[in-house]
Amino acid sequence: MEPSVNKLQTSLGRIMLQSPITVASGTFALDNLKIVEQNFLGAFVCKTITRHPKKGNPPPRLFETEAGLLNSIGLQNPGLDKFIAEDLPVLKEKLDVPLIVSFSGSSYAEFAEMLETLEKQEGIAGYELNVSCPNVENEGIAFGVNPDIVHQLCKQLAPLTERELIVKLSPNVSDIGMIAKAAEEGGATAISMINTVWGMAINYQNGKSMLQKGIGGYSGIGIKPIALALLYQAAKVIHIPIIAMGGIYKWQDALEFFWAGASAISLGTANFIDPLAVQNVYAGINAFLQERNITLSDIVGKYELE
Ligand SMILES: Cc1cc2nc3c(=O)[nH]c(=O)nc-3n(C[C@H](O)[C@H](O)[C@H](O)COP(=O)(O)O)c2cc1C
Repeated sequence: MEPSVNKLQTSLGRIMLQSPITVASGTFALDNLKIVEQNFLGAFVCKTITRHPKKGNPPPRLFETEAGLLNSIGLQNPGLDKFIAEDLPVLKEKLDVPLIVSFSGSSYAEFAEMLETLEKQEGIAGYELNVSCPNVENEGIAFGVNPDIVHQLCKQLAPLTERELIVKLSPNVSDIGMIAKAAEEGGATAISMINTVWGMAINYQNGKSMLQKGIGGYSGIGIKPIALALLYQAAKVIHIPIIAMGGIYKWQDALEFFWAGASAISLGTANFIDPLAVQNVYAGINAFLQERNITLSDIVGKYELE
């Protein structure tokens, strides 16, 4: 094998990533790039934007548990227009890696309208559909929990773009394989998984919840086995690439996800714990592949049951 071959290169549907490490939506801002060098990063995923600005939930909306983080940020964001006018130009100027725009809507039409508006903008490599928002057409149930709704959404959006169309799955469903398959059959070019797991913490002394909203999203080290099992189940039934996330902190964690079928991984909560996580995970994966003289694609999905 040529020594100059980039062993960490990975293919994600319609885009090539020079590194298999991306950052999970909502956990990594441009400011983080003051510490993390971009050549360790495969792509940059921005925080989810919605059609209209959202103030987010009142505090407290973050609580650190013994094994991970609870959050109920509530999709705080400036809204699509301000994102395009103010954030996108800065992202385009500062980023040397592909930009993936995460967005969410409350109806099929709103998702389509947002995508069509973003299509007019240059410098976007792909989209990550955050399907955790309630769907107004289906009595407020989240898009992502019903395979028919996910299928319908992808079917409506896929013909509108040549860019990467990633659907981000929620773990809070009974059959993740069915949802992943529905996204694939609807025309998604990749899947990302998982979003946060429902979680809660209570102050044992006074009985009050630690988050103002009560239940929130649980992320970080405690959800790694859950994320890995769900990835394993989804990877068995779909053929499009998967970006995996959920409690990945170290390069060893990342390798587990590659074996289980991830083509790329995202670091989320890890960025709060160790601002250099991206670099450290990259270095570890690189050393592992170099030592064995293999490329990433040699291990993706090659897990075996004991
Ligand atoms: C503070 C915080 C904010 C988040 N905001 C978003 C968001 O805006 N959109 C989204 O799709 N996921 C969001 N997530 C979920 C992460 O992108 C990721 O899916 C989840 O945290 C699991 O990965 P991790 O365990 O590596 O953090 C957020 C997570 C955290 C902790």
